Amino acid sequence: MRVIVLHGSPRRGGNSDTLAEYFVNGVRETDDVEILDFILNDMNIRPCQGCETCATSEGHKCAIDDDMNQIYSAFADADIVVWATPMYWGYMTAQMKTALDRMEALAMDVRKYWLDKEFVAILTYRHHYQSTIGFFERVQDYFRFKFTPLLYCSKNETGPEDFHVSSNKEKLEEAFALGQRIGIKIIA
Ligand SMILES: Cc1cc2nc3c(=O)[nH]c(=O)nc-3n(C[C@H](O)[C@H](O)[C@H](O)COP(=O)(O)O)c2cc1C
Repeated sequence: MRVIVLHGSPRRGGNSDTLAEYFVNGVRETDDVEILDFILNDMNIRPCQGCETCATSEGHKCAIDDDMNQIYSAFADADIVVWATPMYWGYMTAQMKTALDRMEALAMDVRKYWLDKEFVAILTYRHHYQSTIGFFERVQDYFRFKFTPLLYCSKNETGPEDFHVSSNKEKLEEAFALGQRIGIKIIA
């Protein structure tokens, strides 16, 4: 089984990273798993230039030659795709949005890239997550897949520091159990 994790947070070991780790550990319980982690903040991924080369070229290749190629090649054979991102200014991080825009090149072949996969959106936030959930809902309707959200509110009402998810045993268990559930669904 192949799992792709797109890490959208610039904070290594932050809330979304930690939940992704517990999710993946849950999947590992169910099968031999190949995990491909993409730390978007460390990758050279240019923003989409809107040139439409992916729409018109043979094989629907993106015109930009950069680290996005690693994600393109991993995507077709993935069984599970995880988008893990905090909310930034009412949306996802710029790192995640940049990678998603570049997935336009994968939009051209729904059968190859989007059907028969499980998608998970791990969203961490302080106040709200609904606008990003709305985004993933629209994408899934277009590509005809179903995604599962995993949400974590890190807000600390009593001080300036967020609550890190590592102190929330229930949430970590929820992430692990979701990984197990989706892993079992895939091997069934
Ligand atoms: C620049 C910036 C913008 C943010 N904007 C929002 C926001 O619009 N809504 C929200 O609920 N939380 C917002 N947050 C809080 C983060 O989403 C929250 O701290 C999250 O748990 C961080 O996840 P991480 O540890 O995976 O990076 C923002 C944080 C930063 C640094």
